[in-house]
Amino acid sequence: MRILITGAGGSLGSGLAEALEGTHELVLSDCFDLSARHEFRRADLRSLDQTLPLARGCDFIVHTPAWHGLHGSIKSEVEYWQLNVDGTFHIFQSALQHNVRSMVWISSVSISGWERDKYGFSKFIGEHLCGYYHRVHHLRIAILRPWDFTPFGNDFIRYGERLLAGGVDRRDVVGATLRAMDRVVDGAIECDWFEIGKDHPFTEQDCAQFKDDPKGIIEKYWPGYSDLIDKYHIRFPEKPLVIDLKKTKEVLGYSPQYHFGTFLAELRERDRKALPVR
Ligand SMILES: NC(=O)c1ccc[n+]([C@@H]2O[C@H](COP(=O)([O-])OP(=O)(O)OC[C@H]3O[C@@H](n4cnc5c(N)ncnc54)[C@H](O)[C@@H]3O)[C@@H](O)[C@H]2O)c1
Repeated sequence: MRILITGAGGSLGSGLAEALEGTHELVLSDCFDLSARHEFRRADLRSLDQTLPLARGCDFIVHTPAWHGLHGSIKSEVEYWQLNVDGTFHIFQSALQHNVRSMVWISSVSISGWERDKYGFSKFIGEHLCGYYHRVHHLRIAILRPWDFTPFGNDFIRYGERLLAGGVDRRDVVGATLRAMDRVVDGAIECDWFEIGKDHPFTEQDCAQFKDDPKGIIEKYWPGYSDLIDKYHIRFPEKPLVIDLKKTKEVLGYSPQYHFGTFLAELRERDRKALPVR
């Protein structure tokens, strides 16, 4: 397949390009030049004229660019609309012009706050654009709603703490995207959304007791890490965030690999080797 990845210089886009390398022909696009081994098409997606040629000769589009949670205080409603909504509309126009019928479109769990938040609202409109292009133009689209996979530079502790709250490892988001692409291609998905988060072993009772004894609950599932939890002053949420991934697992075959337990195991390794964690 010849796959167009928009936002190929970003966190998810670059992870995808890396993961797909060697298995598919890639066409990468971003608004700044990338030194890529693949065909590169520079375009500012806020411009219809620049976006229209992008899908030429491609079979599949993975559309990633958006201002997101991190940009809330620095980007205006206008800027969110121009990239997240206009950019999405433009890429659909490009898909139509070049007869590309298959797409993964990256939304966000922030869509749940769409009524009051410019980011969530832009994803809400974006998902409706996906629905429109499916119903009217018969595109097949997997819409992914990831939790927070923002990289926090070298702050490995923050990465770990986030895996008990609203975080998911970027590698699992990349994996979910690859699976979603397969399901669109094999016809299992017509147009549907999927939440992408991390896995957890916690029962309802664990969650209820977590606030009073977080280390005790953690010890139950991942024993032997209390010393590290104290040493690195790991902060716990009042209760771990439990996400329902049933549909995502059933349809995509999604099986997230990274969670608080894998974080603790890696922290042990880093500690042994005296590697920096912040
Ligand atoms: N990062 C997260 O934690 C998170 C969580 C949930 C959903 N999402 C969604 O996932 C998607 C990818 O997020 P990410 O973290 O990889 O984003 P990112 O900010 O790392 O990358 C976005 C890319 O889009 C490009 N871009 C920006 N403006 C552009 C324009 N005008 N024209 C063309 N390209 C432009 C940027 O240069 C960048 O390479 C987004 O749609 C985001 O809303 C992200």
